[in-house]
Amino acid sequence: MKKRTLGDSSIEVAVPRSSGSPDPKGELPMSAIPSVTLNNGVEMPLLGFGVFQMHDSEECERSVYDAIRTGYRLIDTAAAYGNEEAVGKAIKRSGVPREELFVTTKLWIQDAGDERTKPAFERSLQRLQLEYLDLYLIHQPFGDVYGAWRAMEELYQEGRIRAIGVCNFPSDRLMDLMVHHQVVPAVNQVETHPFNQQIETQKFLQENHVQMESWGPFAEGKHNIFENELLRSIAGKYQKTVAQVIVRWLTQRGVVAIPKSVRKERIVENFNIFDFDLSPEDMAAMRTLDTKTSSFFDHRDPNIVKALSEATRPT
Ligand SMILES: NC(=O)c1ccc[n+]([C@@H]2O[C@H](COP(=O)([O-])OP(=O)(O)OC[C@H]3O[C@@H](n4cnc5c(N)ncnc54)[C@H](OP(=O)(O)O)[C@@H]3O)[C@@H](O)[C@H]2O)c1
Repeated sequence: MKKRTLGDSSIEVAVPRSSGSPDPKGELPMSAIPSVTLNNGVEMPLLGFGVFQMHDSEECERSVYDAIRTGYRLIDTAAAYGNEEAVGKAIKRSGVPREELFVTTKLWIQDAGDERTKPAFERSLQRLQLEYLDLYLIHQPFGDVYGAWRAMEELYQEGRIRAIGVCNFPSDRLMDLMVHHQVVPAVNQVETHPFNQQIETQKFLQENHVQMESWGPFAEGKHNIFENELLRSIAGKYQKTVAQVIVRWLTQRGVVAIPKSVRKERIVENFNIFDFDLSPEDMAAMRTLDTKTSSFFDHRDPNIVKALSEATRPT
C-alpha cells in the first residue's frame, strides 16, 4: 500500500496495488480495499457493505456471504435492523479470519443511557457471535446519548470495541458530545449522496478529526438517481455504471461508503470501483447536483425526533 492525496479533499487514503477485483477462480481475494486511518489509529476500509432493510434473514445471510466472498471487509448493521444474527452467520460461514473483517453495529434510541447501553452491546455481540466490535455507533442523536457515550467509552477502554462513533449527529450536537467527553467520536455516519453532498459537514468533521461515512449512497434509488443524465454521461466516459461513479465519487472524497444490495451482480458491481479515477472536472460537475437537503427526513424536525424515539425496534 502506498499513500496519496485525493484531489477533492485533504484526506489521505491508501491506494491498493491491485484493482480489487474478485478472484476469477472464485477463491477468496486478498483484501484490496483502500483504508482510512481513524483518529485513534484504527484502519477502516473505505468501502463496505450495508444491510439496512434486509428483513429476510436468509436473503441477508446470503448477501453478506456474497459480499465477503467478493472482497468486502466492512459490514454495517444495527440492532434496529433486526438482522445481526444473519450477519453473524454469514461472517462465520465466510471463512474469513475475524481480524480481517471490520464489523459495525449500532445502538438504538431506547438502549441509550448508563444502565442500558452495556447490556444492549452484549446482546448485539451475542447475535453477531463475536467477541468484540470494530465500530459501535450511536444510531440516532436522541435520548440519553451522554449516558450511552460514557458506557461506550468504558467498553472502548476495556478493549471490547476498537472504535466508537455516532450517526446522524448535526455538527453542533457532535461538538457538544466532543467537548464534554474524553473520547472523540471516530466516525459520524450521515446521509450522503449526490443530492445531499454534505460538503460543509465534511469540512467540519475533517477539522475535528472525525471520519465521515455515507449512508444511503444511492439515496435508496430516489430522484431516479440511476437514470440521472449527468451521472449517466459521466459513467459513459469511464465505461462504468452510475452506481460505480457514485461510490467512486464518495471514496475519492475520502468518505467511507457502504452501498447495500441483495443482488450478487450489483454487490460485485459496487465493489469494482478502484480501477478508475474521476477527473477533477467530473468531480466538480457532480457538485451541481447538490440540493443540500435530506432526501429522507430532517433529524432536527421535532415530529421526526418524536416518531423515531417512539418507534419500537428489536434491540
Ligand atoms: N445510520 C443510519 O441512520 C443509516 C440510515 C440508512 C442506511 N444506513 C446504512 O447505509 C447503508 C446503505 O444505505 P441504504 O441501504 O439505505 O441505501 P442505498 O445503498 O443508497 O441504496 C440501496 C438501494 O439501491 C439498490 N442498488 C444497489 N446497488 C445498485 C446498483 N448497482 N444498481 C442499481 N440499484 C442498486 C438496492 O436494490 P437491491 O438491494 O435490490 O440491489 C437498494 O434498493 C444501509 O444498508 C445501512 O447499512 C444507515
